[in-house]
Amino acid sequence: MSSFTFATVPQIIAGPGCIARLSELKTRLGSRVLVISDEGVVRTGLVQPALASLADCGAEASIFTGVVADPPEAVIHAAVAQAIEFGATGVLGIGGGSSLDVAKLAALLAKSGETLGNIYGVGNVTGQRLPLVLVPTTAGTGSEVTPISIVTTGAYQKKGVVSPALLPDAALLDANLTIGLPPAVTAATGIDAMVHAIEAFTSKSANNNPVSRALAKEALRLLGANIEIAVQNGTDLAARQAMLLGAMLAGQAFANSPVAAVHALAYPIGGRYHVPHGLSNSLVLPHVARFNATVCGDAYAELAPCLFPHLESARQTERLSGFIEGLTMLPVRLNLPVRLRDVGILKDGLPLLAENAMEQTRLLVNNPRTVSLSDATRIYEDAW
Ligand SMILES: [Fe+2]
Repeated sequence: MSSFTFATVPQIIAGPGCIARLSELKTRLGSRVLVISDEGVVRTGLVQPALASLADCGAEASIFTGVVADPPEAVIHAAVAQAIEFGATGVLGIGGGSSLDVAKLAALLAKSGETLGNIYGVGNVTGQRLPLVLVPTTAGTGSEVTPISIVTTGAYQKKGVVSPALLPDAALLDANLTIGLPPAVTAATGIDAMVHAIEAFTSKSANNNPVSRALAKEALRLLGANIEIAVQNGTDLAARQAMLLGAMLAGQAFANSPVAAVHALAYPIGGRYHVPHGLSNSLVLPHVARFNATVCGDAYAELAPCLFPHLESARQTERLSGFIEGLTMLPVRLNLPVRLRDVGILKDGLPLLAENAMEQTRLLVNNPRTVSLSDATRIYEDAW
């Protein structure tokens, strides 16, 4: 067995209603907490239980509601400015992946004084962050346990900051906060989490490790068993909590064994056509899996019964074909758009998407099969 490292969040608090236990983290967060979220999350009242919990333990809160999907640098700068002006002793991020990503960077930059432009890439952070607690309101990105923040830096380009400094002190997984998620968002974010587990399991990263692979399999069991229940009956607390747990485990897996071509091909779809991240992944997943199957068929066959238990007793070749077939049919069963043309992408836009995907070298190096420009174009054409 080759050597590896595995890092994750020191404390995870999970269970319906556990947001009330935020008060237990008062000693970490301090007495002045900047709460980072977006207007939609605040409007639906999801931040209220957290504010009540902070008030209970005598902490003062200032709320930053400026997070938008695919956050640009200006949002990070505004959050940092508010943290400094408020004299924040800690940062609490509540929301989808974008809010959590902004909270991570705000906690870092408000304390370290580093410049955002200098820390893009892997391992370029040198300073320390403010205490940080993250609370996801979707079950998908796993951002609450990843050392990554994604920032939109131009009209279409996204850059990542990857550093252990971005791992929070604690993550709270409270299914009550995901009850109101619409079915389509539940479905797409759930498939994003599945992609994290699948790509972590098959990652060509030198740090692909047995802990990540074990977590990926358990994540797929939880996500596979609960995604349809959560989509069809959003108030099913047990299914919602299982989805949050599955997404978090998948997040821990890919935080240490990074994702690959599904994400590389999904990012340009999000960047150019503003298709949400989870749906972008869902649209290309079966096609990338079919492309990869020639080199990682054994791994897919091993994952197949985790996601699709009826394949448990099937032979290897049937497991592999059943896995690809299952991934193809899942978005259909969940009522998601399944073709790129369904989300407004024109066929003559595919070559540019392929060019942009090839720029995602940070991700493509992890793909089990080398992806050329013509491969990327063909995968998009299959998905169109
Ligand atoms: Fe993702």
